[in-house]
Amino acid sequence: MKIDILTLFPTMLEEVFSYSIIGRAIKDKLVELNYINIRDFSEDKHKRVDDYPFGGGPGMVMKPEPIYKAIESVRKTNSRVIYLTPKGRVYNQSLAKELSKEQHLILLCGHYEGIDNRIVENYIDDEISIGDYVLTGGEISAMVVVDSVVRLIPGVLSSEESFKEESHYNGLLEYPQYTRPRVFRGYEVPDVLLSGNHKKIEEWRLYQSLKLTYMRRPDLIDKLELNEKQKKVLNEIKKEINTQK
Ligand code: ADE
Repeated sequence: MKIDILTLFPTMLEEVFSYSIIGRAIKDKLVELNYINIRDFSEDKHKRVDDYPFGGGPGMVMKPEPIYKAIESVRKTNSRVIYLTPKGRVYNQSLAKELSKEQHLILLCGHYEGIDNRIVENYIDDEISIGDYVLTGGEISAMVVVDSVVRLIPGVLSSEESFKEESHYNGLLEYPQYTRPRVFRGYEVPDVLLSGNHKKIEEWRLYQSLKLTYMRRPDLIDKLELNEKQKKVLNEIKKEINTQK
């Protein structure tokens, strides 16, 4: 997969993606990341990329021409052009999975009061928001999208299985994890995890996962099609919580 990131601050992203799993994926050529400085496409003698909004109002708007040229410098027939904006569709794991199957992503990071709407209407395939809050620019959002997409590319994580059980992969929040020491400042690891009984451990993990999701994110449970076993465990959890009330 190739990802081109159009930004006013390329070094901000370059640094972040040089580390750890994403850094290794780049070295192993599982993904190619390129940073395109939108300012390089400004024809203004002062290299300006923003201007006052027509109609007045606070802030500045990013001019269309440099963005258009930056997009066209990398766009191919198989490209998906994404604009990171708080007005977009809210990002989640299922969209990350969908994007991880693309061959070429172009991520456009906005700044100031946004970008000229003629770009949004005519040259963008998707508008994505990473959540209901407003950041100062799209770079952090692009980091979130790149990180969550690249780790899903086959071969990026050392074991294909390692992301299958974690939070959101199957729609549930992940069960709690523990490592050594067995007793930390008097706090003990649940006995079942030391029992060596894999069936019991699996049952405990399913119970914990369902309970955590039911308590914290009932909206996720509502979206899921639970299997018979999961339904049964969830009913037990509901009963248990009701008797505690
Ligand atoms: N740019 C500013 N805020 C944003 C958000 N919440 N999501 C994506 N891009 C943004």
